[in-house]
Amino acid sequence: MKVLIVGSGGREHAIATAVAKSPRVDKIYCAPGNAGIAALAECVAIGAMEFDKLVAFAKENAIDFTIIGMDDPLVGGVVDAFEAEGLKVFGPRKNAAILEGSKAFSKDLMKKYNIPTAAYENFTDPTEALAYLETAKFPIVLKADGLALGKGVLICNTLEEAKDGVKEIMEDKKFGSAGNAMVIEEFMTGREVSVLSFVDGKSIQIMSSAQDHKRAMDGDQGLNTGGMGTFSPSPFYTTEVDEFCKKYIYQATVDAMAAEGREFKGVIFFGLMLTPEGPKVLEYNARFGDPETQVVLPRMKNDIIDVMEACVDGTLDQITLEFEDNAAVCVVLASNGYPVAYDKGFVIKGMEAFEGKDDYFCFHAGTKFNEEGVIVTNGGRVLGITAKGSDLKEARAKAYEATEWVSFDNKYMRHDIGKAIDEAN
Ligand code: AMP
Ligand code: GLY
Repeated sequence: MKVLIVGSGGREHAIATAVAKSPRVDKIYCAPGNAGIAALAECVAIGAMEFDKLVAFAKENAIDFTIIGMDDPLVGGVVDAFEAEGLKVFGPRKNAAILEGSKAFSKDLMKKYNIPTAAYENFTDPTEALAYLETAKFPIVLKADGLALGKGVLICNTLEEAKDGVKEIMEDKKFGSAGNAMVIEEFMTGREVSVLSFVDGKSIQIMSSAQDHKRAMDGDQGLNTGGMGTFSPSPFYTTEVDEFCKKYIYQATVDAMAAEGREFKGVIFFGLMLTPEGPKVLEYNARFGDPETQVVLPRMKNDIIDVMEACVDGTLDQITLEFEDNAAVCVVLASNGYPVAYDKGFVIKGMEAFEGKDDYFCFHAGTKFNEEGVIVTNGGRVLGITAKGSDLKEARAKAYEATEWVSFDNKYMRHDIGKAIDEAN
């Protein structure tokens, strides 16, 4: 079969790597893709938000199955556009992708269906938000309602900071229309865990857990980023946590969406916080995580096409997800200055060292071919250097070893990805 993947980051490279392993797949296209994905797929110069062009391409090239990696097209209704032309596509429709597209929607859903999450209020009027803050407890968390590249969350320690935050989000529109509405919620403490799942509208299957490192600098200092590294599984995701989430969070979310007439098919990413009172949902995403996917999919034993097709067909209950009994660590190599300002266009050397090594992956996030056909840096996050090992410690040592194989100007990484593992032991 012919598969089209929509997206251009490390997540899509990891998805393409899994798809390429399927004996059912003859040809992969990726729109728009990147220089790493180009080794597995034919990259086509169509942007992820160009729905008409994507649909036309899928029809002209007789694509059998399309996989949407990114949040923006999902929230914008790309799945509906494909389905309207009778094309088979993996991901939630617009009315279900709102689970990620509106934090106010997801908070109201959790409240209505008793799914554990932080206490909150929604606001569309900045004056009311400011009045609410006068009597609030600090720290407090402000969230722009809509998609904001993972940056629309402000943790405010004082009333002054929170007032400035409301102004930034709702009045100055720092995150654009994402700030037309906002959520103000209780500050929670605890360890964060990312759980990705496959959903077919009715049933849900959980993938192996992971943990992201969102801050730019070692010791969780510096600005929030798209993610500087991940490890899987999380040693903090215990059997007890799993049982709690299965009872109160996972199926409850799928059922809630169905009850609202918003049947969810695709991936639900549960951002959980393991608080002293038990696991609570920090946020939902309607897609694979980046860079969680880079440590989760290489450990999955199933044929990804079988699983994704079952999600679309509503037959996921006939599939048993299986993961290797090992671990993986992904260290992001970024451009110095990310997530604020950074230079691009530097030649990347040494990537051939990954060839023929089954346990090591060099997932491309922001790369491209320059005019001479040489691979150069093309983003803040450049590569996701990933390794599998028999346990987290070994995977971490291997991933860091492999970060040395690659060089480019302004290469930057955190040195403590997966360090939490030591604390767990
Ligand atoms: P989100 O995009 O909602 O996952 O938020 C981004 C990050 O902000 C999360 O990964 C947490 O580290 C932090 N965060 C979000 N909500 C809360 C909360 N209620 N309490 C504490 N930290 C939070
Ligand atoms: N790594 C967090 C995310 O994909 O949103």
